[in-house]
Amino acid sequence: MVSIHFYGHSCFSLATAQHKLLIDPWFTDNPLTDVKPEEVECDYLLVTHGHFDHLGDAVEIAKRTGATIIGVAELASYCAKQGAKTHGMHIGGSYRFPFGRLQLTPAWHGSSILGDNIYLGCPCGFIVELEGKYIYHAGDTGLFGDMELIGQKFPIDVALLPIGDNYVMGPEDAVRAVKLLKPKTVIPMHYNTFDIIKQDPHLFKGQVEATTDSRCLILQPGETYRLE
Ligand code: NI
Ligand code: MN
Repeated sequence: MVSIHFYGHSCFSLATAQHKLLIDPWFTDNPLTDVKPEEVECDYLLVTHGHFDHLGDAVEIAKRTGATIIGVAELASYCAKQGAKTHGMHIGGSYRFPFGRLQLTPAWHGSSILGDNIYLGCPCGFIVELEGKYIYHAGDTGLFGDMELIGQKFPIDVALLPIGDNYVMGPEDAVRAVKLLKPKTVIPMHYNTFDIIKQDPHLFKGQVEATTDSRCLILQPGETYRLE
C-alpha cells in the first residue's frame, strides 16, 4: 500500500512500509500546514525546482535525517554544496532507487532561487514507481503536449497536477492535461496558498469527472489517500 499524504501547496509524502519520500518539502512559512520541518522523517526528498515554495526546507531536512535529495543535476549540485546528500538526474532520465524506479519529466516553468537569481537548471516533474503503482507529480508547469507521451508510457494511478493558474496551469488547462495523461485519479495541488492562485477545486473536479474517465480526489492539507 502507498500512502499519499498532502501537506498543502505542492508538498506530498509518498510512503510504503519500507520507504518515505517527500516531494517539494516546503514547511517553513507554508500557510497551509502547521507541520515543522524538524518534525518530518523521510529517506528521499524529491525537489521539482528551486523556487522557495518547492525547494523549501529540503536541505535542512536532508542534513538532519540523512535523506538524499533528488533533482536535476544543477539543483542537486547546489544542495550538495550546502552539505546535503544528493542524487542528480536530468529530464528524461530514469534510475532504479531502493524504493522503485523514478523518471524525470519536463516542466515548463523557471527554477531560480528567487531574489538571488541563482539558476538551478530546468524545472521537472517526477514519475514515481512504488509497489507497482505509478504516481506523477507534475511540479510547476503549464500544459504541454508531451503529457500525452507520459500518459502513453505509464499507466498512471495518481496524477498530482497544479491548478492554481498565474504561475502554473489553471483549471481549464489542467482538465486538458488529464485528457492527455489519462490517470485513474487526479489530485489538484498548487492552489489557495496565496490569493493570486485562488481556485475552487470542486469546479475542477466537476469538469474532470464530466469530460474524462478519471476520478478527481480533493485532498485537504493534512489528509492522506491510501492507494491499494
Ligand atoms: Ni515555481
Ligand atoms: Mn510554485
